[in-house]
Amino acid sequence: MNQNDMKKAAALEALKYVQKNAVLGVGTGSTIGYFIDALAEVKECIPGVVSSSEATTRKLKTLGIPVLDLNDVGHFDVYVDGADEINDSMQMIKGGGGALTREKIAAACANTFVCVVDRTKQVNMLGTFPLPVEVIPMAVSYVADELRKIGGNPRLRSVYTTDNGNMILDVHGLKILDPTGMEELINNIPGVVTVGLFARRGADILIVGDEDGVKIQRSATVWVQQDDSRR
Ligand code: 5RP
Repeated sequence: MNQNDMKKAAALEALKYVQKNAVLGVGTGSTIGYFIDALAEVKECIPGVVSSSEATTRKLKTLGIPVLDLNDVGHFDVYVDGADEINDSMQMIKGGGGALTREKIAAACANTFVCVVDRTKQVNMLGTFPLPVEVIPMAVSYVADELRKIGGNPRLRSVYTTDNGNMILDVHGLKILDPTGMEELINNIPGVVTVGLFARRGADILIVGDEDGVKIQRSATVWVQQDDSRR
C-alpha cells in the first residue's frame, strides 16, 4: 500500500460513522477527498454537510451533496477530518491545507471528531510538521516576532490567502512538549486568528490507514471544549 492507498482505506472506514438522517461535518484535504467521494454514494441518507473550506464546498456541490450553513445547523454529531500530525493523546497539528480556522470551528460544534490519517501522520511529539498560524494581514510582522520569542522560525506561506482573507505563518522548529499550553499561548497573540494546534479539543476516534488495513483508536479524554452531556 502506498500513502494514498492508506489515506483511502482510512477514509472509507470513516463512512461507518456517518449517521442516517443526521448532518455531518466534513474537513479538508486529500484524505477527506476520498471520504467525500465515498459519501456521494450514500448522499440520500443525510440531509447535508457542514463544510470546512471553499475547496470542500466545491467538491461537495460538484457531487450533489447539499452544503448547509453552520449557523442554521448549530451543533451536529460527527465531524470527519484529516490531520498533518497526531500524537498518542489524539492532539493534532492541522492546517497544512490552510483551512484550520473553519476546521477548528466545525470540530468545536461536533460531538465526535473522527480523524482519518495514514500512518505517517502519527508522531510521539508534535512539531516536526511546521505549525500553521492564520494571521490578520496587518499583524504578520508582529506575530512573526512573537513566534520567534517562543523559539519558532515562522515563514510566510507565499502567494496564499485563506478563505477568510488572512495570511498563514508556518512555524518551523517548535518542539511542542505542552500542546494545550502552546495552543493557548499562540492564540493569545494579538493578530492571531487561529493556531493549527488542536489540543484543547482533539480527536475522539482515530482511524489510521497502514499496510495491513486500518487501525482504530478511541480517546479516553473528555476535551475541555466539550461537556459530558454532549458525549
Ligand atoms: C487542512 C488540514 C488537513 O486535514 C491536513 O492538511 C491533512 O491533509 P491530507 O489529508 O491532504 O494529508 O488540516 O487544513
